[in-house]
Amino acid sequence: MGIREKLNSRFAPLQGGLFLNVTKADVGEGTGNFQKAGGDVMAWADPFYPDPSIPESVKEAMRQALESGIPAHYTMPIGMLELRQALAEHITETTGLPIDPSRNVIVTPGSDSGLLYAMMPFLEAGDAVLVPDPSYPSNFLDPALLGAVPVPVPLREENNYQPEIEEFRKRLTPKTKMVLITHPNNPTTTVFRRQAMEELCRFIVENDLILVSDQAFQDHIFDDIEFVHPATLPGMWERTLTVCSISKGIGLSGFRIGYIYANDVIMDTLYGGAVNVLGAPCTLSSIGAIAALKDRQHLADVYTRLERRRRQAYDILHDVPGVTMKMSESGILSWLNVSRLGTDEEVCTRLQEEARILVNQGSPYGSQGKGHIRIVTACFASDEEAARRFTRIRDVLLKMAAEKGLV
Ligand SMILES: Cc1ncc(COP(=O)(O)O)c(C=O)c1O
Repeated sequence: MGIREKLNSRFAPLQGGLFLNVTKADVGEGTGNFQKAGGDVMAWADPFYPDPSIPESVKEAMRQALESGIPAHYTMPIGMLELRQALAEHITETTGLPIDPSRNVIVTPGSDSGLLYAMMPFLEAGDAVLVPDPSYPSNFLDPALLGAVPVPVPLREENNYQPEIEEFRKRLTPKTKMVLITHPNNPTTTVFRRQAMEELCRFIVENDLILVSDQAFQDHIFDDIEFVHPATLPGMWERTLTVCSISKGIGLSGFRIGYIYANDVIMDTLYGGAVNVLGAPCTLSSIGAIAALKDRQHLADVYTRLERRRRQAYDILHDVPGVTMKMSESGILSWLNVSRLGTDEEVCTRLQEEARILVNQGSPYGSQGKGHIRIVTACFASDEEAARRFTRIRDVLLKMAAEKGLV
């Protein structure tokens, strides 16, 4: 029997050897080679990529830590106590939930692994997981890797991608165990409004389901839109795992620090498996993360820059004939409907070849993502550099619109 035939049937469909069939853009040398040949990447959800963005306060804390030699050693597998304390304060400040750093929060090596780890204790073969479509590609892949079945629930563009409870109800079966959301959503940037979130959570409680809420982009919500934390709604604390990250909000993706918070019963299990499954987060990064969480000026500065950037992207791109886009509601992304210009694959290929810019196709985000592209508006430190790239994207889209007779 060949090695392929020995693969676990859940992993067997994975195919990324030439980085062709993977559903995320950020996997391998293809992107690096494109950059070496002069191309630009606006497909990695990584603030200010590829430019440096570590604040002085963080560098100083890490320099001192290096001098002390402490980072040579493991942290606790559930994360350094001082970091859990800083995170607990941050969570309590933003949600009002009383978070005990030794009972309710765990640090993970980035939130991608945290997301899978949040699902692992619950999902087994045959379980069904309701997943809004479009959303983060891992939301479809991770349940499948655990033997469960992801069930896409369409979010409609005309309804500003809000969850529609009837669509969830229609797909509920005795096998449904979990709802898995990205909130605010990636790729659409939309924040689920209070009424939609309350209805969704009532549905979850009524049907005794578990919620995994990936909130990697929660730190930048624009236009004073209310951000409702589902874990705070009635009946939700005991059934919600909230997965977060310092990659997007604090702009320190390379530190690989994510975290999960949940009630102590759930956390007992996550703590119990931490050493076996997660190992332990990086000690030096943990020390840097504590300094970053305390540097209010840096956090405010990142927010201001990202808010400016989403406006800039909107101003340059929104009026291209045949393109529809809304001003982003959160985070570092823009989501464009380009279906009148071609398939998302065609548009991305043209942008890659003619603008020399890599952006994301919408299709990997679910069937509702077809005909859309995702641009990471936060790439590059300088607004001028970013504006030049948005303009190159605009020029190619305008050319495509002219070819379709739309100009
Ligand atoms: C929605 C969402 N969740 C989680 C992640 C993982 O981020 P990290 O592992 O850097 O914390 C990403 C990264 O793009 C994301 O977009």
